[in-house]
Amino acid sequence: MIDERVFFDMLASSWDTTRLADARKISELVALAGLGQGEKVLDAGSGTGILLPFIKKAIGSAGSITAVDFSANMLDKAKEKYDSLGNINFIVADIMEFVPEGAMDAVICFNFFPHIKDKQQFLNLVHNYLQVGGMLVIMHDISRQQVNAIHQGSQVVKDDRLVSGETLRKWLIVAGYQVTEVLDADDRYFIKAVKAG
Ligand SMILES: C[S@@+](CC[C@H](N)C(=O)[O-])C[C@H]1O[C@@H](n2cnc3c(N)ncnc32)[C@H](O)[C@@H]1O
Repeated sequence: MIDERVFFDMLASSWDTTRLADARKISELVALAGLGQGEKVLDAGSGTGILLPFIKKAIGSAGSITAVDFSANMLDKAKEKYDSLGNINFIVADIMEFVPEGAMDAVICFNFFPHIKDKQQFLNLVHNYLQVGGMLVIMHDISRQQVNAIHQGSQVVKDDRLVSGETLRKWLIVAGYQVTEVLDADDRYFIKAVKAG
């Protein structure tokens, strides 16, 4: 069987036509995150960069984005579409091996968290490079049940499960976060956690 990096490389050319983005819902999710002007944001598992213009709008021209993905093909698409927005650093890397230069104000995982193999370790890593008061947001623009049903249909990602909001809340607390929002709804999933001082 192919590994997940190759799997996503193969999906990159058709991603934007098969994965139809609902701009209204994405705007609502980004608004709920409450990003501020001038912030430094990591878009983890950025893919073809669907989230990038929404983040950019929220943080303005003084803000900066680091878009990380281990699929070079995905990130090539993101760069082709959004490099011109400015202040975006595109980095091909496994998120488990990535360490940003300087602390982040926010880390956003959009339709990405289930693909991380060692989730508790990831929560710890992000906690290390977040500013005090910085946020980790884990969000999906479809329900947990839909995410798991889609993954179930693929040999490659069938084990990449999205856990309930309450389970994730417990994992975040173990990693030292303060959980400020848990929304595990029938059309979206949104968890926000803050690195307390
Ligand atoms: C389902 S896609 C979501 C992409 C984008 N955020 C979106 O919503 O369209 C998940 C992305 O995570 C990337 N990915 C999966 N595991 C990764 C890892 N360990 N490190 C970095 N990127 C990873 C894949 O290459 C893919 O582009």
